[in-house]
Amino acid sequence: MDIRKDILSRFEARTGRSRTLDGQAKLSLPGGDTRWATYYLPWPTYMASGSGCRLRDVDGNEYLDFLNNYTSLVHGHRHPGVMEAIRQALDEDLIFGAPAESQFRLADLIARRMPGIKRLRYTNSGTEATMMAMRAARMFTKRQIIIKMDGCYHGSHDFAEINITPDLSGQAMPTPKTEAVGIPECLLDAVKVARFNDLGSVERLLEEYKGKVAGIITEPLQNQAGIIPASIEFLRGLRELADRYGVLLIFDEVVTFRLSTGGSQKILGIIPDITAIGKIIGGGFAIGAFGGSEEVMSIFDPAGSAGYHHSGTFNGHNVTMRAGVASVELLDEGAIARIDSLGARLQEGIDGAFRKAGIAGRTTRVGSLVYTHWTAGKITESKDVVLWKKNAADLPRFFHLELLNRGIFGSNRGLFNISTPMSESDVDQAIAAIGETLAAMKPLVAESAPHLVL
Ligand SMILES: Cc1ncc(COP(=O)(O)O)c(C=O)c1O
Repeated sequence: MDIRKDILSRFEARTGRSRTLDGQAKLSLPGGDTRWATYYLPWPTYMASGSGCRLRDVDGNEYLDFLNNYTSLVHGHRHPGVMEAIRQALDEDLIFGAPAESQFRLADLIARRMPGIKRLRYTNSGTEATMMAMRAARMFTKRQIIIKMDGCYHGSHDFAEINITPDLSGQAMPTPKTEAVGIPECLLDAVKVARFNDLGSVERLLEEYKGKVAGIITEPLQNQAGIIPASIEFLRGLRELADRYGVLLIFDEVVTFRLSTGGSQKILGIIPDITAIGKIIGGGFAIGAFGGSEEVMSIFDPAGSAGYHHSGTFNGHNVTMRAGVASVELLDEGAIARIDSLGARLQEGIDGAFRKAGIAGRTTRVGSLVYTHWTAGKITESKDVVLWKKNAADLPRFFHLELLNRGIFGSNRGLFNISTPMSESDVDQAIAAIGETLAAMKPLVAESAPHLVL
């Protein structure tokens, strides 16, 4: 039996209406898509409705959602508490073109939770949040250069689209490069690239550009690259280097805010000067925010002497704010402990399924974030992920499609994440589907990537 054909034909048979919609979408959206991450071949499954941790597609198929809009829906779909807050907001108004109480209610809630944030400003995405965090560092220090880490993803603005794909050269310093021809090369003068988890490479840049560096930005946990945590020594060292060289330390906690009530920084006890957040703080709506100490953020005080004109038509949208308060309040310590333990259960189950199928594969996990890797090797840096992907043929693609066939909606790059409505039996259902998928794919593994057969 041709396993690829079998997986594809069952996918096609279940998703006829998605196929039709994909054809219609291509008439007005390039390739039928408005978001690279959600597209896959032969066509993406169009969803029609969601409730709790379940999704229903336009053909009536049901799925357990382990994608949760790329970790932003930490309470799953249409959580009653979040929906009630949205209804309240709708009764007030959508947005006023004036300040609203909901704006500082959410800011206050976040500031009480996140050690590094005393004052914050809203944006409409995590992308904009990291862009503004970098700008804040440049404004505050009156210097130009930002040091970013190889393999870190901070969204899609020009200053962030540098070395997202990690350098494979193995040299002490990564070769800086823009991700696309549309990113101005001149930004390589303003963004310098160090190695993640390598303090020496950061110090080298701080020495080389002494007096010119405004900030160091890092993810405390590389998310898109494959759930790869920074070591505590690295993050402590960054704090120490930032203080020694008089530069601002920026943590991108757009994804990691879900890991504790105060994000990674609270768990680690390392307080950055500026923090970028997003995703879960919008209760399902578009959002980002960046914040820091009163002193750093005073540059955004409209009545202050710096008086920087930061604006945005939809910043602090009333519905987003109200939904955000509900989402953050619902994510208390008990809820986080529960999703973390379900994350551990999922990790154990996936690792066990790979072992049982006799296929080399493993997961990395932090809290409720789990990533599947098709390798028996160690995953300690983003380069490891790029390398296994090069050697895994099209296995991750067919794994993703076959899981869809079996009612499990994950990301096509291997990320699974837990939402608060999930139960142990939901996780067990996913583990069973993954086990069956791997067993079915074993001959394909033997044919296209025999090094992965144990
Ligand atoms: C660590 C990190 N920073 C920033 C962003 C960008 O956020 P957004 O997609 O809301 O622009 C993301 C998105 O996944 C992210 O993972």
